[in-house]
Amino acid sequence: MSNYHIKHFEEYFQVYRKSINDPIAFWEEIAEEHFSWRKTWDNVLSWDFSKPEVKWFDGAQLNITENCIDRHLRNRGDKTAIIFEPNDPSEPAEHITYKQLHERVCKFANVLHDKGIKKGDRVCIYLPMIPELAISVLACARIGAIHSVVFAGFSSTALSTRIQDCDAKMVITADGGFRGAKTIDLKGIVDDALRDCPTVKSVLVAKRINSNIHMEPGRDEWLKPLLDDSYKDYTAEVMDAEDPLFILYTSGSTGKPKGMMHTTAGYMVYTAYTFKNVFQYREDDVYWCTADIGWITGHSYIIYGPLANGATTVMYEGVPSHPNYGRFWEIVQKHKVNQFYTAPTAIRALAKQGTEHLEKYDLSSLKVLGSVGEPINEEAWHWYNDNVGRKKCPIVDTWWQTETGGIMITPIPFSTPTKPTYATLPFIGIQPTLMNDEGEEITDNQVNGKLCIKFPWPSMARTIWGDHKRYKDTYFSAFENMYFTGDGAIRDEVGYYRITGRVDDVIIVSGHNLGTAPIEDAINEHPAVVESAVVGFPHDIKGNALYGFITLKETGETRDHENLRNEINMVITEHIGAIAKLDKVQFTEGLPKTRSGKIMRRILRKIASKDTDNLGDISTLLNPEVVASIKDNAV
Ligand code: WT7
Repeated sequence: MSNYHIKHFEEYFQVYRKSINDPIAFWEEIAEEHFSWRKTWDNVLSWDFSKPEVKWFDGAQLNITENCIDRHLRNRGDKTAIIFEPNDPSEPAEHITYKQLHERVCKFANVLHDKGIKKGDRVCIYLPMIPELAISVLACARIGAIHSVVFAGFSSTALSTRIQDCDAKMVITADGGFRGAKTIDLKGIVDDALRDCPTVKSVLVAKRINSNIHMEPGRDEWLKPLLDDSYKDYTAEVMDAEDPLFILYTSGSTGKPKGMMHTTAGYMVYTAYTFKNVFQYREDDVYWCTADIGWITGHSYIIYGPLANGATTVMYEGVPSHPNYGRFWEIVQKHKVNQFYTAPTAIRALAKQGTEHLEKYDLSSLKVLGSVGEPINEEAWHWYNDNVGRKKCPIVDTWWQTETGGIMITPIPFSTPTKPTYATLPFIGIQPTLMNDEGEEITDNQVNGKLCIKFPWPSMARTIWGDHKRYKDTYFSAFENMYFTGDGAIRDEVGYYRITGRVDDVIIVSGHNLGTAPIEDAINEHPAVVESAVVGFPHDIKGNALYGFITLKETGETRDHENLRNEINMVITEHIGAIAKLDKVQFTEGLPKTRSGKIMRRILRKIASKDTDNLGDISTLLNPEVVASIKDNAV
């Protein structure tokens, strides 16, 4: 029996038990048999959640790109590694073989090297979903530079904060990007961001939209001529197992984003192993994850996990609705996609269009359907199952986080019986548990609690860049000796988990993780605003939408409220990005507060969700009188 590829349910239990009873022997075997190492480890695992400090495969040496590219050259050199599907369906797709990927990554690595980028330097990547994005990520990994990919939908302020936080030396961007019917001026955003980023010495610019952009002399250079002149081989830097591979920012409950730092060996082993099993990838399959590489899903399951398995991975530049809502299905048919991985918000948007688009395409290649990013509601689950999978493709509802690096709770397709809205069982090696508010572990089933993980897994983030204390406070202080996820979950009678959502001040809107604090900070920048509170409310397509309660300096009808709403959303767009715009705005006389001055979000959440029959005890509030008027004026 190979522990690397699980094929039925009894095997899952056997392997799971092994992985829990003797994690060291288990992970050692996986690492030994399926990866190439320059030197193997001295110690498989050392850990202490009280510090917290976790090391996997310490003492080992490797380069992740040798595992994702070089070792496939002999048997899979002419196999397609990446299929690039452009935004515009009339532009031909690009098939990049493993050999070509090797050459392009090496050339890019030489460019980085020539620009003075060295092992350990931070490189910020702000690119649309074009091949240069995957290639630049891999080129950083090849030379040992730490990549920090920033989603190209973020604003210049958000980009600048992220560049400053990790003192990036270089930014890699494009003249612009195509997204549906829109073009996005990425270089202009970078120019704005770089006004306050003295550490950035060079900017490399890929050409995508052929627009006339400003090139700053001495700082900015077009990528193509540099790549054309560069040598086609590059000896991979030898990295230690625990050397940082990348930083990826995620929202937190205070204004500053958290730079989650992931390291090399454990991340590689876990993303590769989960990819193989969660998608049941077979040699000639074509796999497509619709996420953007700017999020962890793209890092782990467009680039590293698939390539470590020698897979063919699709990268799609555009959006589901352009030129029409049949675009995803057209791509599935065109590239004969076997595994399809997307977010519930996309499924809901597509479901709203009915099945007319689906019926035009041949989807018979599909074998496994994945869901990620937020809870999938029952209706969306069934629509996906009945119409996309035609009841023949298991749905893998995969729960995980930027912090976990890889998939944590998921069915294994063709093995685990699925249950709508349940992410089901822990993946191999993962030990989840539920905690109650008294800080005790809940041992029985059919209960609701706070989801924690009891034991380290190879791809967990090791720290928050530059702020280890915040890492400890956020994840390891709520419960002793546990990683706290920030999510609530229910466990049913057979031990299946259903993730119910965040229990902190993070709201997931269209699958994007948004902290309320940074949005409130942005709103409060508007000169007319005294203070604000942002909460989520249920939304058919986005899952959650944002509701802002805002107190103005001048009350009454003295301001044009419609204009003010638009202005506030513009401030949010400038500070964070359009993804954080408010769906509803209510101007209030004041916000309900506790005696210690904390805003009572619980009440605001109920008002925003129109669930006002029982607002709970408001008598202990500092200002109970504001509640009635907020409730009466709810929008
Ligand atoms: C948060 C993490 C992990 C990739 C994308 C999001 C929510 C994620 C599920 C799921 C219910 C889910 C959680 C989690 N989430 N997957 N299958 N069911 N909720 O990464 O931006 O770090 O967000 O997304 O609340 O904590 P992220």
